[in-house]
Amino acid sequence: MDHFIYKDGALHAEDVSVSEIAATVGTPFYLYSTATLERHFTVFDEALHGLDHKIFFAMKANGNMAVLRTLAAMGAGMDVVSGGEYAKARAAGVSGDMIVFSGVGKTEEEMWQVLHGGIRQFNVESEPELRLLSKVATAMGKTASITLRVNPDVDAKTHAKIATGKSENKFGIPMSKAREAFAEAASLPGLEVVGIDVHIGSQLTDLEPYRQAFTKVAELTETLRADGHNIRRLDLGGGLGIPYERTNEAPPLPMEYGQVIRDTVGHLGCEIEIEPGRLIAGNAGIMVSKVIYLKQGEGRDFLIIDAAMNDLIRPAMYDAHHDIIAVVEPAPGVEPSPVDIVGPVCESGDTFTKQRNMPPLKSGDLVAFRSAGAYGAVMASEYNARPLIPEVLVKGDQFAVVRPRPTYEEMISRDKLPEWMES
Ligand code: LLP
Repeated sequence: MDHFIYKDGALHAEDVSVSEIAATVGTPFYLYSTATLERHFTVFDEALHGLDHKIFFAMKANGNMAVLRTLAAMGAGMDVVSGGEYAKARAAGVSGDMIVFSGVGKTEEEMWQVLHGGIRQFNVESEPELRLLSKVATAMGKTASITLRVNPDVDAKTHAKIATGKSENKFGIPMSKAREAFAEAASLPGLEVVGIDVHIGSQLTDLEPYRQAFTKVAELTETLRADGHNIRRLDLGGGLGIPYERTNEAPPLPMEYGQVIRDTVGHLGCEIEIEPGRLIAGNAGIMVSKVIYLKQGEGRDFLIIDAAMNDLIRPAMYDAHHDIIAVVEPAPGVEPSPVDIVGPVCESGDTFTKQRNMPPLKSGDLVAFRSAGAYGAVMASEYNARPLIPEVLVKGDQFAVVRPRPTYEEMISRDKLPEWMES
């Protein structure tokens, strides 16, 4: 459920008309709903009710400071994957003990940075990373709390580019090497083993892979405890899918996901951590764009809009589907017809959808891409010298630009000319 609904024939974000925001901010832009973000956080919190748990927002999904602040105010911690994300989380007011640090390629500089600033735990992904972290922590006179990320070798049944739990993926330590790796971790100075971490992929629409992975984690917990490790935290990652195609998709509910967690690891008495990104932010955001032209091609019509692949790359990168709706609600009985919806970028890949049934639209009309709040703005670029599009946050009847559109001057002045070129 979200808060982007038609009221009197006009799309609203909570109590604000989307057309009104477009008139003030210009198009294209991202638009987020505070109430939806809060609702999604609460849904997860309730799904884990009764378990000792913490929710770390995977901020790679949406790193806007206002979004981070909104979630942090609800009690969310942050799952970060870079020094930059760590700095943003701290700037958003999140304390170090509510930040977990994930990722396969943490650098020595990043280890220094977060150990200095304070961190709840490192989710370590390899033996060389263990050794480097031990060296850095020891040199700083600190102890780093760690989990080891295991790769359970399960098929997450999601898009190949976002599946992470098979042995052919670069993530985690194979189950077969886990005991050895935990033994090494326990023997290294400057490290304290606190638990196990697992994340098998993103946009999962089936709970079975979770059940398999968490069952393996539960077995490993018992084995490692028997080996003498004090396993007291389980970080179960993120990945729960959202309905991108509302008419025919019904991914599992967080409540059902919570039940899988209870069934598989609930008896272990561990603190449970999860790292959802998409489910919190995805349907809390839309991207609004304006039709530039309706071009009649041979045998097909093209709706050319002012947003492009640089603004929302998911369709080009993962063949992702986004529902696209007219901001002015089509009158009942209006016949839709198929169009290709494309952006202005000079690549055929700059196609959002092919032969999608849409109501009649003309130049100047607004459309909204649903489910654009996760992996939208964060993956944008300035390809074709198109400035990053603004982000707007709504709360009730108020809205605010939470990242302005850069001017051309700002964009140009980021490049610096070498001295030998200065006139
Ligand atoms: N934890 C870890 C260690 C992750 O790698 C990820 C996502 C998450 C949590 C959050 O997963 P989520 O709950 O958002 O599914 N750009 C792609 C998605 C990449 C996901 C990468 N890792 C997309 O647009 O579909």
